[in-house]
Amino acid sequence: MACTMDVTLTRRTVFGPGRLAELGELCRPLGERALIVIGGGSVKRTGALDKARRSLTDAGVEWVLFEGVEPDPSVDTTDRAVAMGKSENCDLVIGLGGGSVMDCAKAVALLITHDGPTADYQMDRREVDRPGLPYVAVSTTSGTGSEANRVAVLTNKEERIKKALLHPYMVPQLALLDPELTLSLPQYETAYTGIDALSHAAESYVSLGANPLTEAYGLRALELIADALPKAIRNPEDVDARADMAMANYLGGAALNGGVGAAHILAHPLGAEFGIPHGTAIAALLPQVFDANCQAAPRKYARIYRAFKPDVQVSDAEAASRAGDALRGFLSEINFAPALGEHDVDEGDFEKVYEGVQKSMAHVVTNPRPAGRELLREILVASL
Ligand SMILES: [Fe+2]
Repeated sequence: MACTMDVTLTRRTVFGPGRLAELGELCRPLGERALIVIGGGSVKRTGALDKARRSLTDAGVEWVLFEGVEPDPSVDTTDRAVAMGKSENCDLVIGLGGGSVMDCAKAVALLITHDGPTADYQMDRREVDRPGLPYVAVSTTSGTGSEANRVAVLTNKEERIKKALLHPYMVPQLALLDPELTLSLPQYETAYTGIDALSHAAESYVSLGANPLTEAYGLRALELIADALPKAIRNPEDVDARADMAMANYLGGAALNGGVGAAHILAHPLGAEFGIPHGTAIAALLPQVFDANCQAAPRKYARIYRAFKPDVQVSDAEAASRAGDALRGFLSEINFAPALGEHDVDEGDFEKVYEGVQKSMAHVVTNPRPAGRELLREILVASL
């Protein structure tokens, strides 16, 4: 069957150690007054914020700072940043941080040119009808791949959901990836974000919405992560491993244009209802998702297995059936093998999880097997 595809990629991607110093020069053609969006104190502690501000000032780009984007950013925080960007007459938005900051900043850049609260656009009560301000994503972790795509996942406490706001207008004008910014990332966060990147690569690769472009990105990201993530965890100062992870993160984020699967379908309500951090939920679910899906896409799961075990010679069918175990082995190697049961989820909660899926992720139909109640239950039970 002929391929159809609808892919939005970041307009310009600048990659390399030390390149944060170029931020100002890169931003100058895009705007005169930037709203810099950050989270807590980590970009202050590491010096990344100072470097970014100095570079902007040296290039003649004015800036104002919005700080306090929380993990799993809310629509309310987004509204506050939008209000600041409007009142300060900003014409450019820079997200400097991890996935939460970049997602929030991405939505801010879009909604500064629109009226009404963020929740209206997230819940499809209003339509995006014009481009936002130019958006520059500067990633300080290697996880969500937010800098490579048009998606912002936002928490809506009133509706008790985490839901994506997405539009082709939301793709960054510029992604700046400086692997040196990730050198200070603690081991746990390296593992946590790295597994999210791995899940984007794997889920998009086997997705029913995959196309040759997203498959190429996803598979390359998997190969890079299988090799580099254990190295980055063993030696956080390994710039080459950090660079491979930053690249894999970007590739995985771009591959998300092909769609996600059961791990993400379940991780969103587990985050919204039970507060389980995204990467933790993904790591708890993904091996069982591989087990559940592998016979629906055996050749692709065989390639996934070989990304972890390039030297093992077995048939495609055998390799596919071992993909879940290969991932379990990988998770133990990086010392990050959580279970849902450790987060106070038990079988009595599954109905609530399923309701959350209906509210937030029921539109996702790209898992290789139809992700109905039975399949999701099978995965949840095995992930406790
Ligand atoms: Fe994710």
